[in-house]
Amino acid sequence: MSRTMIPINHDWKYSPEFKEAFILNTFDDNHFEAIMLPHMNQEIPYNYFDEKMYQFISCYRKHFNLDSTHKGKRIFVDFEGVMTYAKVYLNGHYLGEHKGGYTPFSFELTEQIIYDGDNTLTVMVDSTERDDIPPFGHVIDYLTYGGIYREVNLRVVDDIFIENVFAKPKDILQLEKQLQAEVFISNLSEKEQIYTVQLEIANGDEILGTIEKDITLKNKKETFILSIKNLKDIKLWDINEPNLYQVSVHLILNGQKTDTYSFKTGFRMAEFTPNGFLLNGRKLKLRGLNRHQSFPYVGYAMPKRAQVKDADILKDELHLNMVRTSHYPQSKHFLNRCDEIGLLVFEELPGWQHIGDKSWQQIACQNVIEMIQRDFNHPSIVLWGVRINESEDNHDFYTDTNRIAHEMDETRQTGGVRFINDSELLEDVYTVNDFAYGEKGETRVLRPQQEVTGLKQNVPYLNTEYNGHMYPTKRFDQEERLNEHALRHSNVLSHSALDPHKCGAIGWCAFDYNTHYQFGSGDRICYHGVMDMFRIPKFAAYAYSSQVAPEVDLILEPVTIYSRGERAIAGIAPLTIFTNCDSIQLYDDQKLLGEYYPSYENYAGLEYPPIIIEKLVGTWGMDWNDLKIVGLIKGQEVITKNYIKNPIFTQLSVEVDDFELNAGEMDVTRIVIKAVDQIGHMIPFIDEIVTVDIEGPAKLIGSSTFPLIGGCRGVWIKTTGEQGMIKLVIRSSRVDSVVVEVVVK
Ligand code: GAL
Repeated sequence: MSRTMIPINHDWKYSPEFKEAFILNTFDDNHFEAIMLPHMNQEIPYNYFDEKMYQFISCYRKHFNLDSTHKGKRIFVDFEGVMTYAKVYLNGHYLGEHKGGYTPFSFELTEQIIYDGDNTLTVMVDSTERDDIPPFGHVIDYLTYGGIYREVNLRVVDDIFIENVFAKPKDILQLEKQLQAEVFISNLSEKEQIYTVQLEIANGDEILGTIEKDITLKNKKETFILSIKNLKDIKLWDINEPNLYQVSVHLILNGQKTDTYSFKTGFRMAEFTPNGFLLNGRKLKLRGLNRHQSFPYVGYAMPKRAQVKDADILKDELHLNMVRTSHYPQSKHFLNRCDEIGLLVFEELPGWQHIGDKSWQQIACQNVIEMIQRDFNHPSIVLWGVRINESEDNHDFYTDTNRIAHEMDETRQTGGVRFINDSELLEDVYTVNDFAYGEKGETRVLRPQQEVTGLKQNVPYLNTEYNGHMYPTKRFDQEERLNEHALRHSNVLSHSALDPHKCGAIGWCAFDYNTHYQFGSGDRICYHGVMDMFRIPKFAAYAYSSQVAPEVDLILEPVTIYSRGERAIAGIAPLTIFTNCDSIQLYDDQKLLGEYYPSYENYAGLEYPPIIIEKLVGTWGMDWNDLKIVGLIKGQEVITKNYIKNPIFTQLSVEVDDFELNAGEMDVTRIVIKAVDQIGHMIPFIDEIVTVDIEGPAKLIGSSTFPLIGGCRGVWIKTTGEQGMIKLVIRSSRVDSVVVEVVVK
């Protein structure tokens, strides 16, 4: 019999306070709120709230039954993420504590379990910003929220079981490749034991290679290395073809499999060099954005589908090749998806500018260990961030974090994000935030690396942030600002591409995010994203999305809301058009105004520079007609965009991400509601009140009546776990209601 994993995300009991009495098995929690995981301890409004509102100590209780067939086994509880400090009890017995909200932890329950009876797991969750736990101790520009915000499982194993496996693809660029695995085994039997361990690699049902080894287990924890050599016909993992293979490790006793540990990995070579980044030996300019894992109302507490969707947005909508998980290890669902779709990841330990005392630093080192142990099999992760984001140099601390990372994983390089010049380079890659662009008196877009590093030679160098607070921009800001915001992103991408000594650049940031009052626009939002908190694009999003071959995605996105008087002095020029077409033609009321070409002179590094039309005729109140923009490739019309001169609020457009959701778990999907004109264009200055009525096995996240924000808004629904049909009616007082149905199976 192999291991059994039992998800326990349903039917938790939650109290927004904690008392010692709650620990006792005899305590009656009937009056607690019934909740499902993932859960945020206190939902927050969209903006202008007091961030202290979720910073308190709460209690989670879970009743469960385990039948006596599990007797003689070892039972563990695995928490994937609890913000920020947890103390865990089973049936009144204290099991242990965990400091830090971004990494997983486990406790053994075996001794306290009551078989065929009621067991109570009680978790005290401290979501205050405790100075003793990273990232806290000073201010931080994001919120950490609270609660048991990731999944929890029971794990049933034998006395001897596989703790972890680190699969290391080797000889990657050779014809015959190798898979080496470090297998970590726990022996809780207190006896010497002889087993066979088997490593296997498969592509679907086809087993490509296998090897076994007899092992003698003497100690509580032992590590064994197995290698499968001469692997032929293995396809590389790459951004355009993210081939994954199934790795399984079995423990075998007397011919019986007693434990199996399986996961996916890929064969790829990632190297940051002084002359750029190489993926599988090929030069690749990294083009990425930073992602915070937060969502409106529920903070971090979003299940798999929303995490997967974020990765898909970055890859398929923004056409990025990299993401930085600023500033902490993110959901396993997000990382799994990055593996599946070929999105490179720079993952880093939790922290922001501040370094605490020795015991704080020890927790940070522990966070590095937990991050690497959890994530070392993701082919998408190509760099470990082992420095507190933007902290000062600290020789001893960062010597330790680098040593830990290198000892645990010799296959990946380390980075450490700083903003200071001449910083001590203890990492393999000089990763640095460059906010020069827009600084007073600064003419450069990105600074040359030797000026930043203070070193005479070039080193592997990656820009990990730019723009952000230098030019915060709301999706519903004035058009000239939106235009400038977008072009700043293009400009950095172009400069990064032109400098052979830069591996690439990762901008600040993908999505707007909730933050503390010391940051952002005062309303607890940093409007630094190229998309808003609902993942609805600003024009700057198209600076990224247009950098893709037209065969993959045809882009024609003019930076205009098309009105006569939105911009100073009237009109729409200079008109920026993000496109991957060869040229565009502009028609004023069907009359051809001209053909225009990409601005290679100003954006020489871009494969698909924006087209910028400097002058368009017309005066205030006059010559205002319908507009047509046509994109051409090799002289052929391939895409058209129309605008009308006199938009009227005509209908609500409703886009649903998923029409089919999963029963048996908390599932979510996003619905984007837009007010549109006669030809379906979003109209940006309408704050229409919208009401969403919902029936069936789901609830809305956030309130059911709200104004659109600059013409549109997103809303997520979350399922209750049951099957059935969800019916949504989206109403506004001025236009017809829209009905949509989503099935839960
Ligand atoms: C950086 C920081 C980010 C964010 C950004 C805003 O200094 O690392 O977390 O605050 O500034 O531009």
